Amino acid sequence: MNDPVSLRISKVYKSFEHIHHTVSVLQDVSFETVQCQSLVMTGPSGSGKSTLLHLIGALDKPSSGEIAINGTSLLNLSELELAKFRNQMIGFVFQDHHLLPQYSVLENVLIPTMAFKNMSPNPQKRAIDLLEKIGLADRISHRPAELSGGERQRVAIARALINQPSIILCDEPTGNLDHDTANTVISLLFDLHQTEQNILVVVTHNQDLEHRFDRRFVFKENSCIEV
Ligand SMILES: Nc1ncnc2c1ncn2[C@@H]1O[C@H](COP(=O)(O)OP(=O)(O)O)[C@@H](O)[C@H]1O
Ligand SMILES: [Mg+2]
Repeated sequence: MNDPVSLRISKVYKSFEHIHHTVSVLQDVSFETVQCQSLVMTGPSGSGKSTLLHLIGALDKPSSGEIAINGTSLLNLSELELAKFRNQMIGFVFQDHHLLPQYSVLENVLIPTMAFKNMSPNPQKRAIDLLEKIGLADRISHRPAELSGGERQRVAIARALINQPSIILCDEPTGNLDHDTANTVISLLFDLHQTEQNILVVVTHNQDLEHRFDRRFVFKENSCIEV
């Protein structure tokens, strides 16, 4: 079993510089998780949801403030350490699956294991175990084009989980799926969140999924408020 996971966001501000002005997107965002919680985030388009996920996932840096994962502040890491950190600690699931069309399902799931050597003892076995858990064991040699939208998104989830990351960040993961398929995909994320003991953060507009989460946050006027 993994060590206990933690996420701490302290007084995070984020603004973007444009040619003639500065756009402030996040102001004074702070929260901290206890153990492997599930968090849901909602708010209007343009309110900073994706921006916050990018900061947590170390794809971008806060203008000020600090983010720490498992007690390690992202501020102190070099570019190489950040790349390794993203690969090992973070799993991203986007609205579009971002699978590589020329590779099979199994190869797509294995891609994150190839960046850094010797991190996982038997990546192939883990990939097949995950694909079994998500009900796609009979699709491992298919190409993404041969799958349905829901199946592709399930493969994207398996790829996000392959390195046993501490945090799974999902940015509108069911935005392109019909209602029933969306529910199946969210259920799968929950099942895996519980068995793998990770922190699950999901941005969604799907209101009938919100009650399943441990904590709810709403983005409004540059802040992210727990409700
Ligand atoms: N890289 C960027 N450069 C400049 N502005 C950005 C950038 N990323 C996001 N923004 C701006 O930040 C605001 C919030 O965007 P975003 O976080 O994508 O919102 P949401 O995901 O809630 O729809 C928007 O006004 C957007 O234009
Ligand atoms: Mg967004």
